[in-house]
Amino acid sequence: MRKNIVAGNWKMNNDLSQTEALLADLLKQTKTSNAEVIVAPTSVNLYKANEALKSSDISVSAQNMHFAEKGAYTGEVSASMLKSIGVEIVILGHSERREYFNETDELLAKKVDAALANNMSVIFCFGEELADRKAGNEEAVVESQIKNALFHLEALAFKNIILAYEPVWAIGTGETATPEQAQDMHAFIRKTLANKYGAEVADSVSILYGGSVKPANAQEIFGKPDVDGGLIGGASLKAADFFAIVNAF
Ligand code: 13P
Repeated sequence: MRKNIVAGNWKMNNDLSQTEALLADLLKQTKTSNAEVIVAPTSVNLYKANEALKSSDISVSAQNMHFAEKGAYTGEVSASMLKSIGVEIVILGHSERREYFNETDELLAKKVDAALANNMSVIFCFGEELADRKAGNEEAVVESQIKNALFHLEALAFKNIILAYEPVWAIGTGETATPEQAQDMHAFIRKTLANKYGAEVADSVSILYGGSVKPANAQEIFGKPDVDGGLIGGASLKAADFFAIVNAF
């Protein structure tokens, strides 16, 4: 059966001392749900986070990586570098990377391949913009994002892939997709996977919802049958709020 997962994407927030304080706060929280917990600090604080959380059941994820093993790519970080500090999960395809750093489906396919080749797990993000939804194109957009970046993979690769549906219009806006909108899209994503890889693979992949998830709305969203957890931005920066979401299952 697929896992319930709650992941915190800290984005470009928290310097070293703020990171240490948040990590210490996370370690004080109590988990009462069966959800797996992941946090994704900024790259300079990954080593620290992994050291601090080593003996807890909270895993650490990177927010991005390059597709090349090494070389002349100033400012970039490779999968093997992440692995060497104990980081085994990476978020790829976040809409902020697509928008501000021009990451395309084609580039993301290469990054996914590099992560999987290094035995990392990928939290693969995608989602439509407001204009797409207004035009009724949300399913077509999501389907093409998934197909272009992931459908060259073999079925087995999906053991290491977590999907995160993040409608761009709901990120950081306080406007959440309704639980019904989330469920409809998640069911569509699972059907798209089933058409390509079969029902067994589709049923085994965790599909997270992201976009203004808060303690107040998490339970209703996570209550939907095809929503297997959340990718949390703003509310993951406070340990108590984040764990209120973790414990919403
Ligand atoms: P917010 O929870 O702040 O809307 O961010 C969602 C997100 O982008 C997680 O990756």
